[in-house]
Amino acid sequence: MSHLFTPLTIREITLRNRIAVSPMCQYSSVDGLPNDWHLVHLGSRAIGGAGLVFTEAAAVEARGRITPQDLGIYDDSHIEPLQRITRFLHEHGSVAGIQLAHAGRKASTAPPWQSGHAVGEAAGGWAPVVAPSPLPFDTGYLTPEALDEVGIKQVVRAFGNAAERAQQAGFEVVEIHAAHGYLLHEFLSPLSNQREDQYGGEFNNRVRLLLEVVEEVRRHWPERYPLVVRLSVTDWTEGGWDIEQSVALAQQLKPLGVDVIDCSSGGAVPKATIPVGPGYQTEFAARIKREAGILTGAVGMITAPSQADHIIRSNQADMVLLARELLRNPYWPTYAAQELRQENPAPVQYERAWPHH
Ligand SMILES: Cc1cc2nc3c(=O)[nH]c(=O)nc-3n(C[C@H](O)[C@H](O)[C@H](O)COP(=O)(O)O)c2cc1C
Repeated sequence: MSHLFTPLTIREITLRNRIAVSPMCQYSSVDGLPNDWHLVHLGSRAIGGAGLVFTEAAAVEARGRITPQDLGIYDDSHIEPLQRITRFLHEHGSVAGIQLAHAGRKASTAPPWQSGHAVGEAAGGWAPVVAPSPLPFDTGYLTPEALDEVGIKQVVRAFGNAAERAQQAGFEVVEIHAAHGYLLHEFLSPLSNQREDQYGGEFNNRVRLLLEVVEEVRRHWPERYPLVVRLSVTDWTEGGWDIEQSVALAQQLKPLGVDVIDCSSGGAVPKATIPVGPGYQTEFAARIKREAGILTGAVGMITAPSQADHIIRSNQADMVLLARELLRNPYWPTYAAQELRQENPAPVQYERAWPHH
């Protein structure tokens, strides 16, 4: 039986345990470039013992950044500073992953600690922002321009080029961000996609863009490296995207070379009622794993070592992704190993702090 500290091999990459740092925007970049903040922030979590360290959402196009301060991978100048980070993560036993993202209609906003709302050019913002249909997310957001077929092809190519750069930068896992109400999710959800062409309407049309992006990324991303897709498994809203559609989509993603579905939820519309609580999304990972026969990641309010261990032992998911708990405690994996009486050696420099290891 696998547990939280059983290594996991996917294609040719082995994670030392089942703990991943969930992607977390830092809103600390200039022109999409990572800097010392990103090195120390991500590096600390490698030292802390995570098996897989994901960067925050990295924009595949400049106009696909959520805020002007987002990380980017839309230009070759991003490769070298990212390389510095992946080298460090690798040296400390973590696999480096990057989340490739396009913010769609939620682009050009201020960081959450400011307003979170649309910003103008003076504050580094831009227009237009793009989406499947010209419907703003909420008041305080820009009304997007609907992408035409040329624009859609450009987005698909941008994801492929980003995957190519990710490989050059030394990443060994790519996650495509198709959750939280950003561009790819906007196409999946009938709440944001009201197109009447081949990218809108019935299920097979709404999933088309994501399938094209996956195929393009797989063309540029080495066979030996894992590919993950993050979904918002449900919009928690009547008439929206839901678990049944997620299962059907996961079944189509697997033969295209997707290895893991990272099961999140929400973000399509501002007023969904979400039953947030410990492990509230874990059931989605369990159901997709069972019904689509694909590896899954569970995320959302996973904080206790025994909770995380149970998710793996009971075969509900193949890995757990932690976000806020790893902000509170970057050494959570080492601490969890101690709690669970497992091995997850701390770096030699820190050994005296963890006497059992
Ligand atoms: C500061 C912060 C930034 C986040 N940025 C991203 C992101 O870039 N991409 C993403 O998919 N999710 C993002 N999330 C969501 C987390 O990855 C995670 O799914 C969510 O916080 C639930 O996990 P938790 O309960 O362990 O925090 C962010 C969350 C936080 C707290």
